[in-house]
Amino acid sequence: MADLQAALAALVRAALVAEFGAEHADTDPLIRSSTFADYQSNVALALGKRLGRPPREVASQLARHLGDSDMCERAEVSGPGFINITIADAWIGAAATGQLADPRLGVEPAARPLVAVVDYSAPNVAKEMHVGHLRTTIVGDAFVRVLERLGHRVVRANHVGDWGTQFGMLIEHLLDVGESAAGAQLAAGEINAFYQAARGKFDADPAFAERARHRVVALQSGDQDTLRLWQLLVDDSKQYYNSIYARLGVTLTDADLAPESFYNPMLDAVCRDLEQAGIAVVSDGALCAFPPGFTGRDGSPLPLILRKSDGGYGYGTTDMAAIRYRVTDLHADRITYVVGSEQSQHLAMVFAVARQAGWLPDTVLAEHAAIGMVTGADRKRFRSRTGASAKLIDLVDEAVSRAEEVIKDRYDDPDLRAQIARAVGIGALKYADLSVARDSSYVLDFDRMLALTGNTGPYLQYATARIRSIFHRAGLRPDEAPGPIAATEQAERALALRLLGFGSAVAETALTVEPHKLAAFLFDTASDFTAFYEQCPVLKAEHPAVRQSRLALSALTLKVLLSGLDLLGIPVPDRM
Ligand code: ARG
Repeated sequence: MADLQAALAALVRAALVAEFGAEHADTDPLIRSSTFADYQSNVALALGKRLGRPPREVASQLARHLGDSDMCERAEVSGPGFINITIADAWIGAAATGQLADPRLGVEPAARPLVAVVDYSAPNVAKEMHVGHLRTTIVGDAFVRVLERLGHRVVRANHVGDWGTQFGMLIEHLLDVGESAAGAQLAAGEINAFYQAARGKFDADPAFAERARHRVVALQSGDQDTLRLWQLLVDDSKQYYNSIYARLGVTLTDADLAPESFYNPMLDAVCRDLEQAGIAVVSDGALCAFPPGFTGRDGSPLPLILRKSDGGYGYGTTDMAAIRYRVTDLHADRITYVVGSEQSQHLAMVFAVARQAGWLPDTVLAEHAAIGMVTGADRKRFRSRTGASAKLIDLVDEAVSRAEEVIKDRYDDPDLRAQIARAVGIGALKYADLSVARDSSYVLDFDRMLALTGNTGPYLQYATARIRSIFHRAGLRPDEAPGPIAATEQAERALALRLLGFGSAVAETALTVEPHKLAAFLFDTASDFTAFYEQCPVLKAEHPAVRQSRLALSALTLKVLLSGLDLLGIPVPDRM
């Protein structure tokens, strides 16, 4: 087992069983990192209480047992009953050598693979993909990559907003402009202009507004020609998102589209079933569910609206159909909504109503992975220079052109320069997003994200390039450094210990939907490598075995960084 925390947990659990009986086989050994040793186990505190014995006594009994294993150099009791554990150098060296030989690099497949439905990205047809969609797209995409690496079966669900009353005016505007001209405009990403023109006419021209309203009715009743026009809008927008996904290296494809319209045929039954179960009732002409525990500011129960008084369905109805479909048809074990934090209450209500209806059994986890805001320096929602909501594609372009500016003096070959600028710019933009806790807001700052030092994408990309250049100078390929790895010097030991935590970092990210934990791990790894490289000569090491060990440790670092950056969806240039 190449993951250190998992190995240590197993060891402490075995000690618990040996000393205190088989009923402790499933006890959480409460392994934490420690400031006094490599790790600590806090298990003796609760166990002492349960056994009615002083925790320090329980701790020393466990510590004696642990001290006898090859893995622990030392196990010492401290404070009220913590066990401080120092891992043996020989164990670290052997485990790191094993990790290098392991194609999975110590990332253990999940014991129980799940069907995981991940709802992310979800832009809206004929509306600009704006900065708000950046994070749900990038965080969601990192999360699905992590789940897949752990062997889960992932269903990407791109819940695109492609339905609603706004399509009346959009279709009428499309007819006014002409199909091919409108198509060209949308495919070129001039979506805001298109939308605003439609909106402007709708507000100013009563005849147009009337046409638009008729068009909505025609769309909802399935009029063939109207559906064809609607489909044109959908297809053009789809092309546009796909071009953004391709530029960002996002894994979503057309096969992952499960847009709002997909659920239309299910909406009647959703309302009927909820009404029959007594969960939905008519209130002021609208069919609503009032899940217990949700109240407005004045204390009155809050409705999840299922059918408006004009008979139309809404966003919530679709979400109810989607959750039922995901459980019943897709057999989801876990449904994760990577969606803006402003939709917290809406999703909590959807989950609550689905639980009431029995559509979401207790065995299925439904969770909102809330996404915070991207802001400008003023801490308000990031806006473009003109004050409009910033287009996602403009941010991508700006990141790449600024990256080109940063690296321009280093490469003569313009193609190579452009290629590296793309990887650096997009890597910087994505990493800036992934390295902060997903539910907190952050300030979008191009200078900071493109810096070559600090917790940035370029710093990590550069770390990989530096390791490659060591091998280049040695005339070796990184896979020609088989080890064994010896963790003797302090900096070698720290780096190897860190690398052995890769599996835990990946598992933790899958559990919490928090890619910033994996990002932090990779940054720590790169920092530990820098310290190692400063303190331990690699190519100039005196002894051939030491040189071989250090090359192998460098190769392992490179592999872990590349593998981790790939999980985050960060592109890595071969050279920098
Ligand atoms: N299209 C929505 C928006 O842009 C997000 C949809 C999120 N997913 C969901 N199942 N409600 O805000």
